[in-house]
Amino acid sequence: MTTQFRRRLTSAGASRWSWLCPWAAVALAAAVLALWGLAWWSALLAALLLVCPALLLWGLFVVRLDPLTASEPAPATHGILMNWAAPFYDGGCRAMGLGRGFRLETLEHAALRAGERVLDVGCGTGVLTRLAAEAVGPTGQVLGIDPSRRMIAVARRNAERTGSRAEFRLAAVEALPFAEASFDAVLASAMLHHLPPELKRSGLAEVYRMLRPGGRLLAVDIDRPANRLWWLLIWPLRLMPETAPNLRGEVPAYLREAGFERIEVRGRRAGWLSYWLAFKPQA
Ligand SMILES: C[S@@+](CC[C@H](N)C(=O)[O-])C[C@H]1O[C@@H](n2cnc3c(N)ncnc32)[C@H](O)[C@@H]1O
Repeated sequence: MTTQFRRRLTSAGASRWSWLCPWAAVALAAAVLALWGLAWWSALLAALLLVCPALLLWGLFVVRLDPLTASEPAPATHGILMNWAAPFYDGGCRAMGLGRGFRLETLEHAALRAGERVLDVGCGTGVLTRLAAEAVGPTGQVLGIDPSRRMIAVARRNAERTGSRAEFRLAAVEALPFAEASFDAVLASAMLHHLPPELKRSGLAEVYRMLRPGGRLLAVDIDRPANRLWWLLIWPLRLMPETAPNLRGEVPAYLREAGFERIEVRGRRAGWLSYWLAFKPQA
């Protein structure tokens, strides 16, 4: 891959490794078909025939989404973006058992109250953001931010479709475009494991700055797996700088370093996620 092509991919919000995905999908489909009994060359041909239309459909989705954020500048970040996954992200979450039940449990731990001002950092398609907007009611305000154009495009489209009052902006957690101490609560759902260590530090410092004294952060993210089976299933994540600190159980240390106090583990989910509630001290 030429440097120029790599640069174009990255400036479009794709990760350095995005170009590998279609080939990985073809290889996986071919391997499954070969194991199923097809000769390797017919397995490869069938895999190409299966994967190409799927990619075409995905491309059509993406082309429809792009105009929704085209006029806004997208922030540069070293966090892992999910542009490519935006069209089918919600379905993927539900398939992994992270559907509505997971969102409602998250909100229960955040204990949002009517009239509160809430920020959802790394909001993705905005499922949690929309539910948070319902929780704070018409007197409250909920803003979702994400640096991924397509995530924000899907979030806005869904908010409009459902008549939600949640608002969405293109922004990165390490450079939040809001006034200091302007939120009662911040939500960070499955976002911290997308940040390399230096961004976990600067992102959490920004979240701390945004909160009013006594305000709270509810983070739910990957933690040390609860048992050996989960260790086996998710050990490859130890190889990535973004996820390795989570698997070493270092999230509370990052929260403390940002200045948070009273860091409580509120619960666990699925053997590999934890909920943390952390407070900014009263002035
Ligand atoms: C796994 S998704 C979680 C989305 C959503 N919060 C949820 O619970 O479904 C992680 C999100 O973090 C976003 N992200 C990556 N780098 C970020 C950064 N520097 N600041 C804020 N969000 C970031 C990605 O674009 C992606 O939408």
